Amino acid sequence: MNVALTFNVKPESGAFAEEVSSLRSNSNTQPRTNTDTYAEWDTWETINAVKDALETYHNVELIEADHNAYEKLKESKCDIAFNIAEGFNGISREAQIPAILEMLNIPYTGSDPLTLSISLDKSRTKEILSYYNIPNARFQVIDQVDQLKNFNLNFPVIVKPIGEGSSKGIYSSSFAKNSNELKSEVERVLNEYSQPALVEEFLPGREFTVAIIGNNGSAEALPIVEISYNDFPKDFIPIYSYEAKWILDTREKPLNVFSCPAKINFSLEEKIKSTALNTFKVLRCRDWSRIDIRLDKNEIPNVIEINPLPGILPNPSDNSCFPKAARTYGLNYTEMINKVLYVAAKRNNLI
Ligand SMILES: Nc1ncnc2c1ncn2[C@@H]1O[C@H](COP(=O)(O)OP(=O)(O)OP(=O)(O)O)[C@@H](O)[C@H]1O
Ligand SMILES: [Mg+2]
Repeated sequence: MNVALTFNVKPESGAFAEEVSSLRSNSNTQPRTNTDTYAEWDTWETINAVKDALETYHNVELIEADHNAYEKLKESKCDIAFNIAEGFNGISREAQIPAILEMLNIPYTGSDPLTLSISLDKSRTKEILSYYNIPNARFQVIDQVDQLKNFNLNFPVIVKPIGEGSSKGIYSSSFAKNSNELKSEVERVLNEYSQPALVEEFLPGREFTVAIIGNNGSAEALPIVEISYNDFPKDFIPIYSYEAKWILDTREKPLNVFSCPAKINFSLEEKIKSTALNTFKVLRCRDWSRIDIRLDKNEIPNVIEINPLPGILPNPSDNSCFPKAARTYGLNYTEMINKVLYVAAKRNNLI
């Protein structure tokens, strides 16, 4: 097949970085000046690894998902797009390229624009989960600080931006034990991220993430990954925060954060997998996704969030859950990427 790989690359420095930040500041959202601005975007290392994997069997054309993406895709002769683009600005950013692809009638891997947008809005996701009785932490959405006078959750809570990924905006300080800490974190999210704050009751139990590949009846949960905090400093708040993901755990000094398969009994494994697969189904995810889960005080798996465009760092020494689960299942990086392409091609009746 002819495959177009649609991607956004993390600006390293120089002209493109400046162009991107000026595009952001010309948009009607606030320019984001945080250190984690591009945390979601991929590096060339990842993009080239996906390209190499696809090239094992297919012709691959790289299409950067920039402001000329529509024209480039219109010219493209691809049969299908392998989409890993995170998009520009706003809660529907991950939907931008899939929406263009639908307009041009080009099949693509992964979820549709609706699912991608809903999944980025963690409160909309939780509303759907709640409708289907899928356990998730009690929550409140705060658009303005004065709404905190109606706050009725139990402490401790976690405060996060309503629509970010890759732990953007989630720091150790996001864990709030009292009203003062809550207020200052809500202010930080409202000011720095220009979006509502999602406040959730803190789930104190073990944490897992489940990679899923497939569709409909044949969607399959890969071996469960556990995120454990034993290797972190003693006083570290056990959340997979920006500090945990990008500062404390580095390639030079890797921490033992993930174990896969998770060391859990069969009944818990079944419960976690069925919660994840049910979530995949009710959110109408397609082809692949990663579902984050944490146990509540009664050891019930609760869904934290859904990642329909999961992180896929290629180097096994970088901690990346989806490729790790795939490796445990018996798929190397090339096989994992091509399996996602295969299920998408099959769903689109291309094979
Ligand atoms: N309600 C909660 N109770 C306990 N811990 C939580 C809760 N919500 C989030 N966390 C912790 O914060 C981490 C990051 O939260 P979340 O998954 O919502 O952020 P994210 O930035 O979208 O993550 P990702 O990198 O997976 O896209 C989780 O992995 C978990 O450790
Ligand atoms: Mg997460």
